[in-house]
Amino acid sequence: MNSHLTIEPFFDPKTWTISYVVSDDATSHAAILDPVLDFDLKSGRTSTESADQMLAYVKEHGLIVDWILETHAHADHLSAARYLQQQVGGQVAIGEHIREVQATFKKLYNLERNFLPDGSQFDHLFTDGETFKLGTLEVTALLVPGHTPADMAYLVDGNLFVGDTMFMPDVGTARADFPGGDAPTLYRSIRRLLSLPPQTKMFVCHDYPKGRDPAWETTVAEQRASNIHVRDGISEDEFVAMRKARDATLEVPTLLLPSIQINVRAGQMPPADDNGVSYLKIPLNALTKLP
Ligand SMILES: [Fe+2]
Repeated sequence: MNSHLTIEPFFDPKTWTISYVVSDDATSHAAILDPVLDFDLKSGRTSTESADQMLAYVKEHGLIVDWILETHAHADHLSAARYLQQQVGGQVAIGEHIREVQATFKKLYNLERNFLPDGSQFDHLFTDGETFKLGTLEVTALLVPGHTPADMAYLVDGNLFVGDTMFMPDVGTARADFPGGDAPTLYRSIRRLLSLPPQTKMFVCHDYPKGRDPAWETTVAEQRASNIHVRDGISEDEFVAMRKARDATLEVPTLLLPSIQINVRAGQMPPADDNGVSYLKIPLNALTKLP
């Protein structure tokens, strides 16, 4: 276990996101996880600087991209999944509960009639526990709702990509107040992940370090020993009380409204207006509170 795969992290300092390329050393088959499309809110311009770094890595190592995996519909960055797919192929996939997220946000943004909240924008929707091969590696998709109803974690041969369920031990856990988010559900999802073997490596999707350099790799054992929100001994009730109190203090993420409307489309821009330009919508006084 672990000796025959390569995990390459890509840290985006603008959104504190860590994307990954995971590859099977024996066959060069690879998956890209949670790629970032750069977006400048002030100018409305997207760019592919971050995604192109992943692309260069894939090309340099001659990798065959089978999958572009999203852990969830991110609220802090736009997804580069479709851009990367155009460059290197692979199926864009997410958890099947994305349908609920799509239905919620179709309503909020009043999206066009033919945007169907059925997940068809993605190439594949994972069910809980679904397994697939990445070259010789076995991958298991795990449903870990709570941060959003659709969050997935991906277990690749003893390496767990946890998305936004958990952060590094000194940072804790993700908020649970987005539409469809739920703190008790998040607690149960996290306990499920923490029931994996203690040596399981954990790779987080964000880091918000205070007084140290960004980091993204930990283990189940380290999380159980020292995660500030969910280490062993913290009950569901204690966690839920902490999460609710903390979430009440958090602002809406800067890129939530732009990000979600791209990410429920699997990284596709909204259909262009009759002048050929694609627009994002900002609903006024509709997102009055979270959730
Ligand atoms: Fe998130």
